[in-house]
Amino acid sequence: HEINWTLEMAEKQGYEHFMLKEIHEQPKAVKEAIYGNLGMIDKIAREIANYEKIYIVAMGTSYHAALVGKYIFQRLVKKVPVVEDASEFRYEFEDLIDRDTLVIAITQSGETADTLAAIKLAKKKGAKVLSIVNVVGSMATRLSDLVLYTHAGPEIGVAATKTYTTQLTVISMLAIALAKYLNTADREYLQKIEAELYDMPKYIEAALGYENKIKNLAERLKEKRDFFYIGRGISLATALEGALKLKEISYIHAEGLSAGELKHGPLALIEEDVPVVAIAPSGKTLEKMISNIQEAKARGALIISLGDSEELRKVSDILIKMPKVDEVLSPIVYIVPLQLLAYHLSVLRGNDPDKPRNLAKSVTVE
Ligand code: G6P
Repeated sequence: HEINWTLEMAEKQGYEHFMLKEIHEQPKAVKEAIYGNLGMIDKIAREIANYEKIYIVAMGTSYHAALVGKYIFQRLVKKVPVVEDASEFRYEFEDLIDRDTLVIAITQSGETADTLAAIKLAKKKGAKVLSIVNVVGSMATRLSDLVLYTHAGPEIGVAATKTYTTQLTVISMLAIALAKYLNTADREYLQKIEAELYDMPKYIEAALGYENKIKNLAERLKEKRDFFYIGRGISLATALEGALKLKEISYIHAEGLSAGELKHGPLALIEEDVPVVAIAPSGKTLEKMISNIQEAKARGALIISLGDSEELRKVSDILIKMPKVDEVLSPIVYIVPLQLLAYHLSVLRGNDPDKPRNLAKSVTVE
């Protein structure tokens, strides 16, 4: 036992938990994801360029990466992938998959039972399968026609962190490569976001710099019972993933939802001091986000905003000022403070963030 303990301490490299270490490894992991795929991405893009019928399947955090993928594909490639939770895909889409179908499976472990079952079904129906995987040699990599690796390195914490931001990196690279090849987006714009993607490690580093502020915020929020995370467009995925992180490790009830849905029901739950976390980068949706924030604020919500604009400051109780990045890449950096918030709330509430109750790193049963 003594040896294991020492080994574990060594593996944590001075961090209190693996999760915190992995959150801090993100600048490096994203850099590896970029450089690890540079040589591959154009070739893979060419192989899938002609598919019009595209499904992206995944579970858990990988499902949120799939959602981000959908928005990026829409914006850059002008194609609309159907994103499905792999456990649903198997039953509901069986008759729709054929030889003209591309299935993109996203899975950290490459061993999630539902995702593997979706891949097997797709193969059986003659579809082309591209997997985005972290674990080299895992089952998903063996079942798929094409594989892109996330190069995040081993992730020990049950809650996915660096494997998520690297999944986002890879799917963004793929969309950019496709857009270039198919000529579906403005060249200059593509060059601009490509350059920003290369700078992502630096932006993530900047977001990690807010850790003390987030820790103080967690101290203030630790007794709260419900959180709402709202976002629009591509930031909806960030809202869902932020809420998932909180549920998984702090055991606080959290909901992620599209800001537009707020007034169709959830607004009834907003009372004095209920935290509403608004993901509001500059872009298409900022103006509407601000009016949604005001709706919640008028009911007494405590508004915690993530954004890069001055307009946002005026409507927020707490603003986490984010680096300015293009909206399509914003999920890669905006999730970082939300990972830290979930982590610190978990620790303050006396939980072990590395081993959340009832959850497993890899769910190998359906
Ligand atoms: C489990 C893990 C999650 C993960 C999900 C999908 O629920 O606890 O962190 O997102 O499985 O796993 P995968 O390995 O397929 O990405």
